[in-house]
Amino acid sequence: MSIVGTPALSAQQKPVAEPLVSIRELRVRYAPQDPFVLDGVDLDLFRGETVALLGSSGSGKSTLMKALTGFAPIHSGSVRAGDFDVAKLQRGQLRRLRSQTGQVFQQFNLVGRLSVLTNVLTGSLYGAGAPNMLGTFRSADRKRALELLDRVGIAHKANEPARSLSGGQQQRVAIARALMQNPRVILADEPVASLDPKMSRTVLELLQQIAREDQIPVLVSLHVLPLALAHSDRIVGLRHGEIVVSGHTADLTAEMLAPVYDIDEEEEDE
Ligand SMILES: Nc1ncnc2c1ncn2[C@@H]1O[C@H](COP(=O)(O)OP(=O)(O)OP(=O)(O)O)[C@@H](O)[C@H]1O
Ligand SMILES: [Mg+2]
Repeated sequence: MSIVGTPALSAQQKPVAEPLVSIRELRVRYAPQDPFVLDGVDLDLFRGETVALLGSSGSGKSTLMKALTGFAPIHSGSVRAGDFDVAKLQRGQLRRLRSQTGQVFQQFNLVGRLSVLTNVLTGSLYGAGAPNMLGTFRSADRKRALELLDRVGIAHKANEPARSLSGGQQQRVAIARALMQNPRVILADEPVASLDPKMSRTVLELLQQIAREDQIPVLVSLHVLPLALAHSDRIVGLRHGEIVVSGHTADLTAEMLAPVYDIDEEEEDE
């Protein structure tokens, strides 16, 4: 089954015209003899919405995110992100696509010995020319990095080495770094899997707030159902590479999401 999303905004809000990201009949496999890891996925992402991606380990969540940045081998179907037709991009265009895609990971991926501020500034290198690659950051970039640290609530840590921060604080730095790219979309692959429940909530609230305020889509993969129900506008459930549940979060319950988690098979195993 493949289900295309519908805009998450309510009637009082401005109607959204077109999806920013549009995936159709996407099939991905990593080798010709392998089974399809994504098998006919349709998904739209709209401005301002946070979409939670659920699925058991191996269901294809990370692969779907990789398909949006040209890192997954697309066998057939289409992936459109903004103006980019991802399956057809040459190297230079792929670089541009990636520079416009903010990514947040489970392990934060910061450089621990560098300051928080420098870590955020590296987000500006994506779109930078040669001078920035030499290690000097423009003062305008420094100002913006500090503003973003303020926005995520840790400006007071700007000069500390990143490794001295708590996990939740490091994830905020990673989000500020992603924002430094002026992203058109944010992909967050299990961003709270290493955080305690309280930190998880604050990080997910921050991502949802960014989606709304900056009017960009945020796609966030999660393993914890209650977190998805509390911190997303829509939920998409993957199972064995197919979307088995999709809907507005307000319309879904934990029971309705059960098919995502192979519950029948687990019960058979017991
Ligand atoms: N580079 C790769 N080469 C070959 N197979 C891969 C590769 N990456 C992923 N796979 C396979 O694709 C399937 C989906 O993997 P994927 O990482 O997308 O799942 P996931 O839903 O993100 O899982 P998890 O919750 O464990 O992160 C798995 O069977 C995995 O073994
Ligand atoms: Mg994964």
